[in-house]
Amino acid sequence: MCGIVGYIGEDEKKEILLEGLKELEYRGYDSAGIAVIDKEHLESFKAVGKLENLIRKTQDFKAPGFGVAIGHTRWATHGKPTELNAHPHLGKYSYVVHNGIIENYQELKKELINSGINFLSQTDTEVIVHLFEKYKEELNDNFEAFKKTIERIDGAYAILLITKDEPDTIFFAKNGSPLLIGFNDKNEVFFASSDTAIIGKANRVYYLEDGEFGYAKKDKVVLFDKDGNLKEINTKPLATDKLSAQKEGFRFFMEKEIYEQSNVVVDTMLGRVLDSEIVFDEIKEGFLDGIDAIKICACGTSYHSALASSYLFERIAKIRCDVEIASEFRYKEPLLSKDTLFITISQSGETADTLEALKMAKRAGLKSLTICNVDNSSIVRESDVALLTRAGIEKGVASTKAFATQTLLLWMFVLYLASKRGVISKEFLEEEIRHLRETPKALKVTDKLHSKIHRLSKRYLHGHGFFFIGRDIFYPLALEGALKLKEISYLHAEGYPAGEMKHGPIALADSELFTIALMPKTLLYEKIKSNVEELSARDATILAISPEPFELADDFIQTKYATHPMIEFFEMMVITQLLAMEVAIRLGNDVDMPRNLAKSVTVE
Ligand code: AGP
Repeated sequence: MCGIVGYIGEDEKKEILLEGLKELEYRGYDSAGIAVIDKEHLESFKAVGKLENLIRKTQDFKAPGFGVAIGHTRWATHGKPTELNAHPHLGKYSYVVHNGIIENYQELKKELINSGINFLSQTDTEVIVHLFEKYKEELNDNFEAFKKTIERIDGAYAILLITKDEPDTIFFAKNGSPLLIGFNDKNEVFFASSDTAIIGKANRVYYLEDGEFGYAKKDKVVLFDKDGNLKEINTKPLATDKLSAQKEGFRFFMEKEIYEQSNVVVDTMLGRVLDSEIVFDEIKEGFLDGIDAIKICACGTSYHSALASSYLFERIAKIRCDVEIASEFRYKEPLLSKDTLFITISQSGETADTLEALKMAKRAGLKSLTICNVDNSSIVRESDVALLTRAGIEKGVASTKAFATQTLLLWMFVLYLASKRGVISKEFLEEEIRHLRETPKALKVTDKLHSKIHRLSKRYLHGHGFFFIGRDIFYPLALEGALKLKEISYLHAEGYPAGEMKHGPIALADSELFTIALMPKTLLYEKIKSNVEELSARDATILAISPEPFELADDFIQTKYATHPMIEFFEMMVITQLLAMEVAIRLGNDVDMPRNLAKSVTVE
């Protein structure tokens, strides 16, 4: 999830690019860069870290007069955040910026290296500019070369490319990642990943659709649809409020991030989930040799994704897996053995307790792997291997899309490990891969579901507390649902194993105790059903979430019949997230910045 800007016009181009990138920093900021062509002059700057480093580096650079310019803030998916990996990427006389993931970049990179091209970076993006120049030399036509380049790449992309060979043109293409074109009455042309970068500069906008591509010059923009037919550009007025533009029309970043889950999980799987195997380039051959146990350490929501995955590690990969809360692990004098792979899970990669736990494990000589959303974070740098969740920046303090991508990535890693250990068949793996690919659909938020939860939430604004109950992998989901509600509504909620209610907590059951029962059909349904019946018999108020109608429910949210527990898991997860958010909104709380909480807990 990177930020892209582009500009064609007479104004000072550096300032326009930097102002645009500043508005996109929420999309990614581990490195940034700009490239400018005015007449014959090609200039580019890149800097690692926050955008202010690039601003400092370019303070003496000016780019007045007519020209074309592109800029980029990076959220690393392939290759560490270094200056070499920062965009724009340079060929011999062209620059490219890209947001997305090119699934077949290795095949293309090999082909280009074999034809004598030298690569500078570890990124997938760099193949675009070398491919373009290769075809330019073959076809002697820039647009045809660009078109052929786009035809060769698979995956998600938003691309801007400029070349010294045609210094008044920006070539563009969009598939899966956002890209828009802005226009104004000064005949300038703008490109951006989202509205905020061009508010106040453009007054009309066109949102590119998947598969569309073309080229832009000062006095004209030529657009083609996914079938290569010329397409008329129907612009619409551009929003004027920057903050609401960043939220892209949602009321809160948390709401936007819940809706984004269906898309970001596609990125999590890109280049990793193939038809018959799971691939992690990040894991070198032999890294897992000798590993015969898993220990996972995390905090909060990340602990919940860890707990859910522990069922899968033992059930599918047939490997012992235990999960620890980092702040407990640190002081319990744990017994650690070198055959244990120590996994940390962290959205921020800066959680102090998790980082210290990791250092303890490393001092004990264990191999370490982290599942993290922020490349180059402390936990990523400290780990032997980092698998990035690719959720993009998560601004809501209450974690949603990070949890979804952590859980998905762990499911993928379990399958990867099970394959390595030879404990699952090819057929089983292919079946699981088919289910993995159902995840985006399971995470889709429908208007019907959201409005039902909005209506229903009015009944849950009081009461003396909530129990979220579930069994097996739905127990960690119950913990997560309770945490979501607690942290943004400030109402008391507990996640509990459904089978444990009769060992004490059922004493709390009465009509003012709200029980959110996760009742999947694919896993232990009869067991959870009898647990909920016990509660209903004691007059607890029940909100049942299940594909199977449950007549004792006071409220009922029907989910889809699925053929895999993890698909039910993701669908129910979205419901608990929306419920927590709608209750908090009704209570008038700041959903994105709940009281007493920070997005990254770097204190002990
Ligand atoms: C989750 O909604 C909370 N914001 C919190 O529990 C968070 O998951 C926890 O602090 C761990 O953070 P991390 O994933 O960045 O390590």
